[in-house]
Amino acid sequence: MSIEKFVKAIPKAELHVHIEGTLEPELMFKIAARNNILLQYQSVEELKMAYKFNNLQSFLDIYYAGAKVLITEPDFYELTRAYLEKAHSQNVLHVEIMFDPQTHTNRGIEFKTVISGISRALTEAQTEWGITSNLIMCFLRHLSEDDAIKTFEMALNYKDLIFAVGLDSSEKGHPPSKFQRVFEMALKEGFKTVAHAGEEGPADYVWEALDLLKVSRIDHGNNSLNDDNLIQKLIGQQIPLTVCPLSNLKLKVVTDLKMHPLKKMLEAGLLATVNSDDPSYFGGYINENFLSVAEALNLSKQEIALLAINSFKASFLEETSKQEMIEKVQEFFENS
Ligand code: ADE
Ligand code: ZN
Repeated sequence: MSIEKFVKAIPKAELHVHIEGTLEPELMFKIAARNNILLQYQSVEELKMAYKFNNLQSFLDIYYAGAKVLITEPDFYELTRAYLEKAHSQNVLHVEIMFDPQTHTNRGIEFKTVISGISRALTEAQTEWGITSNLIMCFLRHLSEDDAIKTFEMALNYKDLIFAVGLDSSEKGHPPSKFQRVFEMALKEGFKTVAHAGEEGPADYVWEALDLLKVSRIDHGNNSLNDDNLIQKLIGQQIPLTVCPLSNLKLKVVTDLKMHPLKKMLEAGLLATVNSDDPSYFGGYINENFLSVAEALNLSKQEIALLAINSFKASFLEETSKQEMIEKVQEFFENS
């Protein structure tokens, strides 16, 4: 079996995808027209030309501008449905989707509108395709902790729909310690926690995410590799890293995929996974991420299978479901 077919067919979970980052240009134009919103770009082609990023911030500016077309419950439903359809076509069996409520509530959209549209699509995907899911509500770290607390209080009305809280947006200058209180509140209410750390920020931010925010896993975590003690902790406690190869390339976290640390991470015994982050902006969904990094680093089928197993191990699935999924991957690998 070719690597392409192997990657496509292997069962997998996606643990790091921002729903606003799955907004394809075509859908952005369609929803903008429906909502009478004039985009800054004349065409899909012109918009795609703007997708050239120098760093995280240059991407975030365009990503937040794009999200402004999302107004109604059906907008959020259609966005989520489109991602799930893609995920299903790529043999993703379980997804943990991040959403950024403040991107919407701070421009007057009701929290309920956002979460209802997303959740309706998630429920439907489970019924239609058997895809299981967990929602992760992220706080925007460039905003204040008080703003995050206000958002958290709104979210408590929808507690049953949210599994974990996370931390995203501009990393440098906004350490995890800034959000210690709101994460404590979340932990007290029984939410799991995750945080973007070590994408552009230093290894110290990964330490803070672990020690202060008590995260179950680290989103990205690339710069952990600069700190030997941290590497030993992540390996020892098998704390997962949700790695996003095409995102790292497009945001210049790595200069070339051939320099990507993923293979070294696996060889060191880190629990690394492959994810798409913001697929419509970075040129590929989960399978394209697997394929590009497999090609650049010459990954074997065994390493790809390990990454698929890791995706379930690192998920918030219950232990029995995790084992079932891991057995599916092993069975696929043995018969391939
Ligand atoms: N929000 C969406 N994508 C992100 C990323 N890669 N880093 C931080 N915040 C984000
Ligand atoms: Zn991310």
